[in-house]
Amino acid sequence: MQGRRVAIVTGSSSGIGLETSLTLARKGFYTYATMRKVEEEKSRPLIDAAKNENLTLQVTELDVNNDESVANAIDTIVDERMRIDVLVNNAGYALGGALEETSMDEIKAQFETNFFGAVRAMQAVLPIMRKQGTGKIVNITSMGGRIAIPLSSPYHGSKFALEGLSESIQYELEHFGIKIILIEPGAVGSNFWKNIKIAKSSSDSNSPYAQFGNQIMKAFKEMEQNAMNPSEVAKTILDAVTSDNPQLRYVVGEDATKTIEARKNISDEEFGDLIENQFGI
Ligand SMILES: NC(=O)c1ccc[n+]([C@@H]2O[C@H](COP(=O)([O-])OP(=O)(O)OC[C@H]3O[C@@H](n4cnc5c(N)ncnc54)[C@H](OP(=O)(O)O)[C@@H]3O)[C@@H](O)[C@H]2O)c1
Repeated sequence: MQGRRVAIVTGSSSGIGLETSLTLARKGFYTYATMRKVEEEKSRPLIDAAKNENLTLQVTELDVNNDESVANAIDTIVDERMRIDVLVNNAGYALGGALEETSMDEIKAQFETNFFGAVRAMQAVLPIMRKQGTGKIVNITSMGGRIAIPLSSPYHGSKFALEGLSESIQYELEHFGIKIILIEPGAVGSNFWKNIKIAKSSSDSNSPYAQFGNQIMKAFKEMEQNAMNPSEVAKTILDAVTSDNPQLRYVVGEDATKTIEARKNISDEEFGDLIENQFGI
């Protein structure tokens, strides 16, 4: 058992994280499906699936916002398995609202999970991956890490930041056999949509941005209706981590592919017009 490849996935209680944990375990990875609260309601689907399918999958507590929680989880995994082959930084959520009406605490919380959470987990696994001379780190950013839509500026900021950091560290890590992989999905059907946090002062119907906000919420509903299954993202992650020479970036979903391709071929002004049309501004 000791020679089995070991994978860690953050935010495994639902959506992409849950599917990715199952997909990796089904392919023979000893998988640590981590979540911030290992309560019955959150962990049961994974525990039951692992039991039914006889998978080497273990549910472990890990809150990406918390230094001690990340250190404890990673130290325990290293003690148990003596190696880590794959880390999937998946935990995240979206904060919506106009920047003017979003508090610094709300913005910091968004970066704490989506950006610093991934950094914390990477810093914890890098020593063992460097010693091994091998490892793959998958950062789930988004189509929203390449292009930005209105009233979601801290979300885009956090995802663009993770893209930039990942692009830079690929150079310092490749000498040690560690690969960085960015996964950029379009809309995915998951709890993401119901978990969108709206900045408190943005929710006021007297907000000068209220009408704008309603248009965006309508557009979000349409995106959710056309969203792909999280298993498509999980499959791309599996392909990337089992490849000898993975790409830096994987775009997932027709919406993301079309949008990112369009962005490459037109000016800022032309792309701006497209976004304004799509969001009815
Ligand atoms: N859905 C989309 O359309 C979409 C598109 C592009 C990118 N993404 C990205 O994909 C990732 C996964 O999202 P999803 O669609 O699978 O949404 P989801 O179903 O809401 O899953 C998000 C996961 O992150 C976890 N999480 C939140 N804060 C955490 C923390 N501090 N520590 C550990 N776990 C935490 C949640 O745990 P709880 O159950 O405890 O809340 C949940 O397990 C996110 O990074 C998101 O930005 C999503």
